Amino acid sequence: PEAFGRGVDGELTVSGLSVATLAETYGTPLYVISEDTFRQRARGFREAFEEAFAAVGAEVSVYFAGKSFLTPEVVRWVREEGLNLDTASGGELACGLRGGMEPARMALHGNNKSAAEITRALDAGVGRIVVDSLPEIELVGRLARTLGVTAPVMLRVTPGVHAETHDFIATAHEDQKFGMSLAPEDATEAGQTDATQSGTSPAMRAVSACVAHPNIDLQGIHCHIGSQIFAPEGFAQAAERVLTFIAEVRDGFGLRLPQIDLGGGYGIAYTAADSPRPARMIAQALAESVHGTCERLGLPIPHLSFEPGRAIAGPAGITLYTVGTLKGVTVEPGRQRRYVSVDGGMSDNPRPVLYDADYSAVVADRRSTDAQARPVFSRVVGKHCESGDVVVKATYLPEDLAAGDLLAVPATGAYCWALSSNYNWLPRPSVVAVRTVAGEPEARVIVRGETDEDLFARMT
Ligand code: LLP
Repeated sequence: PEAFGRGVDGELTVSGLSVATLAETYGTPLYVISEDTFRQRARGFREAFEEAFAAVGAEVSVYFAGKSFLTPEVVRWVREEGLNLDTASGGELACGLRGGMEPARMALHGNNKSAAEITRALDAGVGRIVVDSLPEIELVGRLARTLGVTAPVMLRVTPGVHAETHDFIATAHEDQKFGMSLAPEDATEAGQTDATQSGTSPAMRAVSACVAHPNIDLQGIHCHIGSQIFAPEGFAQAAERVLTFIAEVRDGFGLRLPQIDLGGGYGIAYTAADSPRPARMIAQALAESVHGTCERLGLPIPHLSFEPGRAIAGPAGITLYTVGTLKGVTVEPGRQRRYVSVDGGMSDNPRPVLYDADYSAVVADRRSTDAQARPVFSRVVGKHCESGDVVVKATYLPEDLAAGDLLAVPATGAYCWALSSNYNWLPRPSVVAVRTVAGEPEARVIVRGETDEDLFARMT
């Protein structure tokens, strides 16, 4: 059952609890997370991938991408639903540990990990460190030797798949900072001095560096083609290239790499215009493709892992705002747009400014489709001091919308709180989680909203 619905008076509810009541109790802006939805989606992803790959005789692990939304409470949900945790910094790793995640179930990512972050990960005994460059392989090897341990390592490669998404979140094409390219490189062009390395790929050189280091245990290959991607073809194509590389490593080094990680990036519906595929469909398409490729290459199917973040957390969250000023603006002769200002904006959701992201808004304290209320072309904007501070670019909201009304923006569970700021000294809002216990909804503050005093406490 969907956690978000409408009550008898048309008010928006989460697990049957009126969000207007939450707004009264905790104030606005307010992030509301449905713990039920988060858990269902986490479990749904894990089961869909486990089942699809079991059908071709392979095992999988699903890592929740903590960057999308991470607090100790969220770590507990992830852990209880049987997912592992993908972290992108020492801080996320610390949060994972605080939430009780077993270190062996965590991965550490990043293109510029510090020695302190790597040491922390090795000390804790994380399950894998995803290395991203030659200098980093040296650094991980050296630190592991100092600690007297062997570092479990995955190598991140760029498979050269062009995923259709915003440039800032596309990561598998060649000209960007992540991973080691699979494409053979002309050594002279790349500024290499060792002519014998000509014609090998940066990824293959990285494999050599890992193999050469006694304190590195290279377990497999990782790739992530981007984020908010709908078509399964890009994932399948990336898998094929990674598996082909694994076969080359087998042929060149006699080394059998037992793992591949295909990253995350599964798209969600931000507005009615988006149509994401169900996890089950993506998993089946991928399992078939991986199975076929492995047969063709004569490879045993490796252990696979996936790192969805947005697809788990995104649909589980909404943001509540209170409507303030309303203003009609003439866009062009004869065409009006109503500007609806709310009490938050780019500090609690910078995605519209950063990625030109679309959202929708609905009236939360009554039904927005009241027969008598004519829909009016509107733009929902924040209260920050810049014109790019847009919450919802274009939407229809009822004509009688007024100051004090409650608006809800759906699909804000991922990369909103995580990207939030104190721009213009707006305190970060609270995060309230709602779950069903013995058939009854229960709301809990999992992140207390900031006050001015919280901010002053860190300053001279
Ligand atoms: N794995 C790796 C290595 C990643 O870099 C990412 C996202 C993920 C997994 C999770 O991707 P997801 O399933 O959540 O799409 N701030 C941007 C998104 C940045 C994504 C960065 N990497 C946004 O708000 O759209």
